[in-house]
Amino acid sequence: MLFDTHAHYDDEKFIEDRFDVIEKAHSSGVSYIINASTDIKSCKESLAFAQKYEYVYAAVGIHPHELDGVDDSTLAKLLEFAKEDKVVAIGEIGLDYYYDTAPREIQQHWFSQQIDLARELRLPIIVHDRDAHQDSVDIIKAQKASEVGGVFHCYSGSVEMAKELINCNFYISVGGSLTFKNAKKLVEVVRCIPMERLLIETDCPYLTPEPHRGKRNDSSYVRFVAEKVAEIRQMDFEEVAEATLRNAKELFKIKAPGY
Ligand code: NI
Repeated sequence: MLFDTHAHYDDEKFIEDRFDVIEKAHSSGVSYIINASTDIKSCKESLAFAQKYEYVYAAVGIHPHELDGVDDSTLAKLLEFAKEDKVVAIGEIGLDYYYDTAPREIQQHWFSQQIDLARELRLPIIVHDRDAHQDSVDIIKAQKASEVGGVFHCYSGSVEMAKELINCNFYISVGGSLTFKNAKKLVEVVRCIPMERLLIETDCPYLTPEPHRGKRNDSSYVRFVAEKVAEIRQMDFEEVAEATLRNAKELFKIKAPGY
């Protein structure tokens, strides 16, 4: 049983066959999937998937790429979505200084506001941090995100930063990039952090792991990430699958048995 903690089945790349893909992934051994939202439309879709499939859960939030036009009424809508059953996190939220599609102060503002919302609702957060390591850490500390905890998804920081985040009640999630040739730094992170703080994900349709790099990604490929973790930590695949699934169920407070 595997847990894909980060997928985007509302993405247009799944327009033709999203339900087939979700169902096939599930029957291939993926027992839980979290669909992470990026804007209000995406929140609605994530919720619809979670209502359709017992093994799909939703995270609701506004991605740093999607801040155009966001205001207090957007937060009010998020609050409504977040109260629905099967919403297990606020996300994905954070900072993206690589694309910088919104001014950095604006990104920081809405990141902070959404952490406040998560604390109000006692939900963990799913963080997107691209080229914004220091500010991301500073903001989660300043906003007391440790009260609810969360995960840095598609982690790209150092071992030191990972340890700092774990001290702040965060988990580290790795995806397909762990299988890439240039993943030295990430391999070191996976080797060094406690197994109890590691999650796995696909971020599908993006970041397809080897040996399928270049094709569209989907949740069934999360097993390649688990295999790589097993190789790095010299564990059995089954042990990695079990540990990462247990960690995710604990963070997202999921009680339901895997189907
Ligand atoms: Ni994502």
